[in-house]
Amino acid sequence: MKKIMLIFGTRPEAIKMCPLINQLKANTAFETIVCVTGQHKEMLSQVMDIFQLKADYDLSIMRSRQTLSRIAIDILERLEKILKKENPDLILVHGDTSTSFIAALAGFYAGISVGHVEAGLRTYNMQSPFPEEFNRQAVDLITDLYFAPTNTAQDNLLKEGKKLEKIFVTGNTVVDALQMTIKSNYENVHTRWAEDSKLILLTAHRRENLGQPMRNMFRALKRILQEFLDVKVIYPIHKNPAVREIANEVFVDVERIRIIEPLDVVDFHNFMARSYLILTDSGGIQEEAPSLGKPVLVMRNTTERPEGVAAGTLRLVGTKEENIYKEIKNLLINEKEYQKMSRAVNPYGDGHASERIVQTIVQYFADI
Ligand code: UD1
Ligand code: UDP
Repeated sequence: MKKIMLIFGTRPEAIKMCPLINQLKANTAFETIVCVTGQHKEMLSQVMDIFQLKADYDLSIMRSRQTLSRIAIDILERLEKILKKENPDLILVHGDTSTSFIAALAGFYAGISVGHVEAGLRTYNMQSPFPEEFNRQAVDLITDLYFAPTNTAQDNLLKEGKKLEKIFVTGNTVVDALQMTIKSNYENVHTRWAEDSKLILLTAHRRENLGQPMRNMFRALKRILQEFLDVKVIYPIHKNPAVREIANEVFVDVERIRIIEPLDVVDFHNFMARSYLILTDSGGIQEEAPSLGKPVLVMRNTTERPEGVAAGTLRLVGTKEENIYKEIKNLLINEKEYQKMSRAVNPYGDGHASERIVQTIVQYFADI
């Protein structure tokens, strides 16, 4: 029996790995071990609870206002012992966080094969997103099995000289997760509050946006709230105290905005489905919105998810106050433009990505 260890640590990694854990656990050819780094704490356990999964190992590394170096040191040191004890045949990491990079590095140092779920996303700008662009490129230097969500991701890997026989286009497991979360009869006290208005759902957390760029985003939205009385905003705010400081500063005494604790993924997906538009600097939300047909104004200068832009759902609006303000206003007053961005399309898969990944792993072990 082959031993597979999944290693992840933040909310988005968990949302996209949990469907895969369930598929792997259902396959008797594998012993499946789950190791969480705990880079996130509350936001990670929210996801594990929803999927009713428990980690076999929890490195519990999170500290308030943690630095990139601290995250890296703690994970590398603690993971070494676990990899030595368990000696898995394959480790699986996801995406582009510090956890992904350091877990892959620990696997490489230990001589263990690495599978990268959501491989091949690129902006080719090391500063944007920071440090994620470095993390994903670094993981792909030492990956043995690339699970690319789209053909574009596969093309990026091929252009970099990765071997075609190691790359598998699977779709994104986030679409698998969406199949489980969206409910037509969903109700919630906050969505009821926003029923009679145009609901804008807001999230923001990127490291490179902390400070003035984030202040610009919030100021743009504040102006919109002051000008458009039929708009309400729900903002499930990231746990990062640096984000909370800026939000508290800008949104003090602003009406028709509810700043609430992070939502669990079932709530968040259903809030998305009920919103008029989404404002975010998040990565994962850019993949979910196209399936739901919800326009997203991406408050960043680059995106590694060009498929959503090509599909018409996403628009890059940068981080300048005036531009964000104008783009939101445009979608509020220009019905034709709004409808153009609201078509449901699905460039990120059909909800069967986890099954394809498991089949690929079965074949990988059969071949070696
Ligand atoms: C991390 C990832 C980012 C990913 C994001 C998803 C890195 C470098 N960054 O960024 O790629 O997009 O997660 O949300 O890997 N905190 C809590 N409780 C939690 C989670 C966070 O209190 O459950 C606070 C802590 O003070 C922590 C801070 O938030 O120090 C920042 O967390 P961190 O994981 O370093 O950065 P994120 O911005 O969440
Ligand atoms: N999400 C959630 N609750 C929230 C906000 C977001 O469950 O309050 C989900 C969202 O649906 C998406 C993921 O978290 O699947 C995105 O995570 P985040 O924006 O933190 O990270 P990124 O995708 O930018 O790495």
